[in-house]
Amino acid sequence: GLKKKEVNVLCLGLDNSGKTTIINQLKPPNTQAQEIVPTIGFNIEKFKSSSLSFTVFDMSGQSRYRNLWEHYYKESHAIIFVIDSSDKLRMVVAKEELDTLLNHEDIRSKRIPVLFFANKIDLQDAMSSVKVSQMLCLENIKDKPWHICASNAIKGEGLQEGLDWLQDQIA
Ligand code: GTP
Ligand code: MG
Repeated sequence: GLKKKEVNVLCLGLDNSGKTTIINQLKPPNTQAQEIVPTIGFNIEKFKSSSLSFTVFDMSGQSRYRNLWEHYYKESHAIIFVIDSSDKLRMVVAKEELDTLLNHEDIRSKRIPVLFFANKIDLQDAMSSVKVSQMLCLENIKDKPWHICASNAIKGEGLQEGLDWLQDQIA
């Protein structure tokens, strides 16, 4: 068959936001991990959609590893940025990390699509994706296509909608 286009996706966001859980759900069922543990450094995961072959750099969100993120900006074709919608206390930290990302010289000049997952919407005190997008000031992103999806990574809800959007941006 036709060779699928290869895309590198960088998965970012604070620790415990659900990055690894999301990426695990996007993998074929027979290759999914049964147990998710906090990421040390980063993991590389591969999966395919109908037209694309994804290589995902699933980065650790722990503060001590966040300095690794920038080393992968240059080779990335898309970013998935995950937010724990119930973590009100650290929303400002998430915004700081997002702003640092968007202002980085390797990202600033690039029209790279950014997909946000407002994750953990199943939790009682989760904010809506509209509220999350306000807190992160996403409407200020003018030079890149972006999209936010509410998700429940444990059940896999909202993930396909996000991936479909990303695929449309790249294809
Ligand atoms: P680091 O690797 O440390 O950066 O964290 P991470 O962003 O990869 O988070 P991870 O996927 O390890 O998930 C952290 C915890 O949140 C785990 O206990 C997951 O089961 C849980 N979790 C992930 N997504 C959801 C969700 O949508 N809802 C709920 N309730 N829990 C979730
Ligand atoms: Mg992880």
